[in-house]
Order: sequence, then structure tokens, then C-alpha cells
Amino acid sequence: MVRQLYPEWTGCHTPQLPFALGWRPLPRRSIRLRTVHATRYITPLREGGSLPAVIEADDDGMYVIKFRGAGQGPKALIAELVVGRLAQALGLPMPDIALVELDREFARTEPDPEIQDLIRASEGTNLGSDYLPGAINYDPAAMQPDATLASRIVWFDAFTSNVDRTARNPNLMVWHRQLYLIDHGAALYFHHDWENAGEACGKPFVLIRDHVLLPFASTIGEADAALVPLLTDEVIDAIVAEIPESWLQGEPAFADAAAYRQAYADYLKRRLQLREAFVQEAIRAHAAHL
Ligand SMILES: Nc1ncnc2c1ncn2[C@@H]1O[C@H](COP(=O)(O)OP(=O)(O)OP(=O)(O)O)[C@@H](O)[C@H]1O
Ligand SMILES: [Mg+2]
Repeated sequence: MVRQLYPEWTGCHTPQLPFALGWRPLPRRSIRLRTVHATRYITPLREGGSLPAVIEADDDGMYVIKFRGAGQGPKALIAELVVGRLAQALGLPMPDIALVELDREFARTEPDPEIQDLIRASEGTNLGSDYLPGAINYDPAAMQPDATLASRIVWFDAFTSNVDRTARNPNLMVWHRQLYLIDHGAALYFHHDWENAGEACGKPFVLIRDHVLLPFASTIGEADAALVPLLTDEVIDAIVAEIPESWLQGEPAFADAAAYRQAYADYLKRRLQLREAFVQEAIRAHAAHL
């Protein structure tokens, strides 16, 4: 079943993407979205605007957790989950992600009142990504990915309207000489204005001009040809089905969670059909950059 949904996804990230930082296949990992339970708060990551934290979970793993109760609310978690899972389905290098269950008791041992409040407001399902110990933030002056990887990431960020991959805030990490995508909470920004989402899906993504990897993205057309066949309707439906019901409450544009969930699938499928606009815009922005 899983193989049918993700034909290119063999349990490890696609090893055929070489890049200048050094490529080797990542360890095998499950493509099933895991759920873990948080057991210990370790430390806040204060450089992150949403006050993410490193926690330990009941599988003995360490995760960077994004809290549902943070300022940006559940939409940031929906973006993290949907865009992260799309990246994984495309074989883009990502720390694995998991749903993280948090209970109220978790706040008890935390002395900082700001963090206590955040934990209390986040009881239930949150989002975690595998903590990459010792990873460093990407610096374009120090390292350059090859054109294939850069172009795929640029294509992907134009598809998912991710405003958060700029030189100032690249949201890319380097770990064991490989590049990793993190922080997709600001992607899918159409979901802050559902009334106009029908129109937004056909729009180019002009902010691609500020993408940190744009100068290296000389093969965006090839990226388009390689990636689109991997995003079948079945893959999109399976990913959207993973959004926890509790994150799909209280959006006035929809009668219920099912309609809200369906709107994400409809948007993503339509955006792929109308992708010529964002692909051409990205190619044009790359050419203007040279
Ligand atoms: N999986 C990870 N492993 C190791 N470090 C991480 C991981 N995810 C995030 N970090 C570190 O934590 C910082 C904040 O994370 P992230 O960018 O996801 O948070 P944010 O609150 O959404 O940030 P922003 O300020 O960009 O909105 C990153 O810049 C990075 O240094
Ligand atoms: Mg960030």
C-alpha cells in the first residue's frame, strides 16, 4: 500500500541526488508518520521565533518540537506537517517528522513561567522533527549545493509558497556534510486567506527572488520534470489525511474538519496543474540573478 502511494520512496531518501556538500544515502526510516509521547523538556531553542524546544520522547529519541499553542497557532503546524511530508515524498533531505503528544503534567517540572504557559496551551498533539545534534545553520558563502538539489528545493519552495528560505533566515542546516530542510511553518501562506485560495493556487511565487539557493538553481525545468510525477493525487490525499483532526478546528471558512482538510488537497492538486506560472517565475528570477 505504502509503496503504491509513494512509488519512488523506498524507505530511505533518494540516493540519486548528488550534491556538492557530499551525498550519501540516509539511514532507512519508516515512511509512516510516527506518533511519540513527550517525556522530558530539555531546552528551549531561543533563536526560533515560535519558541521551539528540544524534548525527549518515549522512543528515547530527541525531537525539536513546535508547539500548537505558540503565537502562530495550529496553521503553522499544518504547514510544517504537510510541507515536511511533501518534501519527504519528493526525496528532499529532511529530518524525519513525527506527531508529539504532550500532556499537562509535562509543564510541572519546567521552572520558566513563559514555557509553562506554552506547554499548557499545547496539551494534545504537536509536531516534532528529529533533533540533529551538532548540526550547523547553512551559510551560502561557505557551502554551495549542486544545481540539481538547489533547483529541486527552489521548485519545492515556489510550489509550497515558502517565504522562509532567504539568505537572512535560510532554514537549512548542514549535518554530516549534508543539507537538511527545516522550518516550514511559514509556508502555504494562502491558508491565512481561504476566501482567495482558489485564485492563489495559480499565482507565481514572486518572493522566490529572495531564495537563498536561487543563484545555484540553474535546472528548475528539469526539477519540475523530475518532481511532478512523484506528487500523484494519492500521495497528496494520503498526506492531507495525516493532519490531526484537532488542528482543523475553528476555521470559519469551513463547516467542518473534513471540508477544511479537503481544501488543502484541492489547493495542492490545482497548484500543480497550474504550476507553469510559478515555474516560469522561478526560472525568470534565476536568470535575472545572474
Ligand atoms: N531538527 C533540528 N535539529 C537541530 N537543530 C534544529 C532543528 N530544527 C531547528 N533547529 C534549530 O532551531 C532553530 C529554530 O528552529 P526553527 O527555524 O524551526 O524555528 P522557528 O521558531 O520556526 O524559527 P523562525 O525564527 O525562523 O520562525 C533553527 O535555526 C536551528 O538552529
Ligand atoms: Mg526558522
